[in-house]
Amino acid sequence: MFLGLDLGTSGLRALLVDEDGAPVASVSESCAVAHPAPGWSEQDPAEWVAALDRAMAALCAERGAAMARVRAIGVSGHMHGAVCLDAAGGVLRPCILWNDTRSFAEAAELDATEGVRGLSGNIVFPGFTAPKLLWMQRHEPEAFDRVAKVLLPAGYMNFHLTGAYFADMSDSAGTAWLDVGARGWSDRLLTAGAMRPDQMPALVEGCEAGGTLRPELAERWGMTRDVIVVGGAGDNAAAACGVGALREGAGFVSLGTSGVLLTGRDGYAPRPDSAVHTFCHAVPGQWYQMGVILAATDSLNWLSRITGVTPAALSQELGETIDGPGRLRFLPYLSGERTPHNDSHVRGAFLNLDVGTDRAAMTQAVMEGVAFAMRDCAEAIGSTGVALNSLLAIGGGAASRYWVETIATELGLPLDLPEAGDFGAALGAARLAMVGAGVGSPDEIMTRPGVAQTIEPRAELAGAYDEAWRAYRATYPAVREVT
Ligand code: XUL
Repeated sequence: MFLGLDLGTSGLRALLVDEDGAPVASVSESCAVAHPAPGWSEQDPAEWVAALDRAMAALCAERGAAMARVRAIGVSGHMHGAVCLDAAGGVLRPCILWNDTRSFAEAAELDATEGVRGLSGNIVFPGFTAPKLLWMQRHEPEAFDRVAKVLLPAGYMNFHLTGAYFADMSDSAGTAWLDVGARGWSDRLLTAGAMRPDQMPALVEGCEAGGTLRPELAERWGMTRDVIVVGGAGDNAAAACGVGALREGAGFVSLGTSGVLLTGRDGYAPRPDSAVHTFCHAVPGQWYQMGVILAATDSLNWLSRITGVTPAALSQELGETIDGPGRLRFLPYLSGERTPHNDSHVRGAFLNLDVGTDRAAMTQAVMEGVAFAMRDCAEAIGSTGVALNSLLAIGGGAASRYWVETIATELGLPLDLPEAGDFGAALGAARLAMVGAGVGSPDEIMTRPGVAQTIEPRAELAGAYDEAWRAYRATYPAVREVT
């Protein structure tokens, strides 16, 4: 048995899988996010531990006997968060999360520092970890001076589980302290970020053992063997492990709160100016690249709140198949945008509203706006020299066939809908644990799910969607100028 833990922003999921990697039981527990000031987003790590305790108690109640057979644990976490610990391992302040934008000025300064993009392979986005510590240095100097270790959320869970400080490459790549090509902490980046090497956790690959489960936790959870805890992964790398997206061109389109277009890479090919994220993968010798848009289903959820109609019902009003883009245009920048604009100030817009515009037209425009933004991501990723050759459509938004067909046509690529089952970040984390325990190689363990249906692009409509995307592209600079 293996345990995958996925620490998401809204909660923690614990997934137990058997020796073949098949899910056996799963429990989810929620966590709250605090917004103490506009643009701030924080969580108390004690809440993660409490959620873990509740989840494990439920899992033990359900599968008590199976717990004795657990051999390894892997943790996936939301990326970029800063958990600052003092010399005794105590938490100094709440974790500043990935979607917290308070350190945008520090991010811009760091991003403009010579050599930073070159070594980190990425723009320093305001959500990344390094600018958060520079913000603390300026605004909370007392706490900053006491920082003995900085851990990412998954790293903190590793520490809680084992008592050891270690982090994997995929998560660490999102700090702006890692030399992403060389897979090691960079003295130059650490100095630029006012940090020291001794404040960093030890680095291991995601599928490599980093520590052993603390005896008191093993006893509480009925685990009798020496349980290893592997490096784990950032959530997107873990999700990629969950769907077998390791190699060049294999990836997914994820329509969650945010939208992600991700592909595995066999080599390191950064292109920071495209606002593509280039990160180490959770398995040795691999990298991945992704474009991230900040409001995918969040855009539809926003429309749902405004109209009082559920996202599923809104989607149903459009039917199953597309018949060409509408005239109404929506820019999905409700929380700013990462790829390709790296712009935390821009906001969304509707254009071409007409007295005849109805709810269905607005839903269509929202879905198309997200599809255009995903095309932006595909263009940005394409500029790094990779050919996307096998993409799955995953996440809550993929339940809308209409939406998936819009995106397939916009990208000019077929999108595979996976068979029902488990393939999220928790499964990816459990698979990393399996590799760490020696069950098999990453390629053997991290297989692609079966395909329930392939949604082909509608070739006869491709010209119209391409033209609509070009019009969408032209609206960003115009909107930016007047806001
Ligand atoms: C990735 C990112 C998000 C978070 C939260 O760069 O910011 O995917 O990991 O899910």
